[in-house]
Amino acid sequence: MDSSTIPVLLVTANVGSIFEDPNEMLKIWTEEFLSTVSKLDPKFIGLHCQEVGGKNYELSMKHVGNFVKLLMSSNELRLFDKIRIFLDEDYSSAENFTALGNLYFVHQSLNNISIWDFKNCVFTPVQGQEIHSGNIEAVVTKEKAKFPQNFFPECKWSRKGFMRTRWSLNGTIVDMINIHLFHDASNFIAMESSPSVYSKNRRRALQHTLQKFHNDQYENAPYFIFGDFNFRTDTDGVVKKLTDGLRTIRVQNNKNNEYTKLQFMTEDSKLVLTVGKKEFNHSDHQTVFTSEWLKSFDKECEAFEDTLWEFPVKFPPSYPFEEKISHGTIYMQTRCPAWCDRVLLSKSAKKLIKNDTDTKYGLMGIKTCMGDHKPVYLRINLKEKAGLHLTQHNSESVMDVKKVEDIMDAASVTRYIYLENIDKPVKIYRETAV
Ligand SMILES: *[C@@H]1O[C@H](CO)[C@@H](O)[C@H](O)[C@H]1NC(C)=O
Ligand SMILES: *[C@@H]1O[C@H](CO)[C@@H](O)[C@H](O)[C@H]1NC(C)=O
Ligand SMILES: *[C@@H]1O[C@H](CO)[C@@H](O)[C@H](O)[C@H]1NC(C)=O
Ligand SMILES: *[C@@H]1O[C@H](CO)[C@@H](O)[C@H](O)[C@H]1NC(C)=O
Repeated sequence: MDSSTIPVLLVTANVGSIFEDPNEMLKIWTEEFLSTVSKLDPKFIGLHCQEVGGKNYELSMKHVGNFVKLLMSSNELRLFDKIRIFLDEDYSSAENFTALGNLYFVHQSLNNISIWDFKNCVFTPVQGQEIHSGNIEAVVTKEKAKFPQNFFPECKWSRKGFMRTRWSLNGTIVDMINIHLFHDASNFIAMESSPSVYSKNRRRALQHTLQKFHNDQYENAPYFIFGDFNFRTDTDGVVKKLTDGLRTIRVQNNKNNEYTKLQFMTEDSKLVLTVGKKEFNHSDHQTVFTSEWLKSFDKECEAFEDTLWEFPVKFPPSYPFEEKISHGTIYMQTRCPAWCDRVLLSKSAKKLIKNDTDTKYGLMGIKTCMGDHKPVYLRINLKEKAGLHLTQHNSESVMDVKKVEDIMDAASVTRYIYLENIDKPVKIYRETAV
């Protein structure tokens, strides 16, 4: 048996809020990310981002290039000579825009690496650096979809969906799926039932997505699904636990329902918890949620026990942190803190991981402001030559790729910026910068 392994780092990061203050935050975020990378010393890095460009993406999309540049030009990643980046940036396309970004960095010591072409159903050797941005609908080395419209709460479109890539890492075939599921809009609605309507809706969308992968035309591969699942702690259960024996006061705001609140008080009128539509404020807010009891209300994975596996979660909730740089370790008083951001794996992927002390599942930037979500990472040693043997490359496609390699300077980055044009079909600009 071949016991060699590849050190792999998988990271999920909802980066939406770092684009609110791009000048400072991009720098702080990337420094923290890169120092964690150095510490964990992987040879393959998968970084799945959600909300690329942030909430005001029309204004912020221009900073995304800066973000990518900061990572690619870093000293920490200088030996990662093979790069594939997929940024879904075309916000003009309401039906397709997901704001997802999948970034993969492969160390120069790894040679036998291929990526799946979903259109031609072949693996293509990975050489050089490619960035796909703009409208990436026609890029064949990724699969991307928004959830069907009837999955969206109140049928409102938002940037929610998945983006998948398939890799052959020295003979081990795995899928890497970035996913962004629906959030909780109102704490009141969230506490109406257990599980909440939001939780049920997320479950439905995730079930739909996993079924789609299971039943589609591609062979099933072991997969890592890492993204912002928006999994919340069971709000109803948490509120009951925190307010047992307390008095409830409804503070009605007749002019504006937005400001109606529930307040929970002790016998001697000490305020313990306030819950509003977008307020969740405990008198001991910074410490009460970081002890172990809260984990028992993190239940959204349970529905997937037969399909998905997760390493034990021994880190504090990844959301919601204050977005101010000076307050990066403090939970915001808006939602009950929750483990939204996860790295999950299929049962078959679990078998590909060497069970050793290098395995680490944790939170990045515990003492640093990383935006409202702190990135979550899984560091593993992936067994080589352990994958299924899916469709072999045919010799023709390998030759085509070789030709491209010959003309590509080893030190160059190939940037593909795909722009939509109303009159003509998709225009593809290729810009090679050394
Ligand atoms: C959106 O995606 C669909 C299916 O992939 C495609 O047919 C359509 O052209 C896309 N629209 C835009 C504006 O890119
Ligand atoms: C890939 O696997 C072979 C053994 O099967 C090994 O010799 C090689 O070093 C591995 N790693 C790389 C660098 O791709
Ligand atoms: C909630 O927040 C405010 C300030 O942000 C604070 O003064 C108040 O006492 C907090 N506590 C509760 C339980 O509402
Ligand atoms: C790893 O090995 C230990 C000790 O043999 C075992 O208790 C644990 O369940 C294993 N973990 C996984 C993820 O297989």
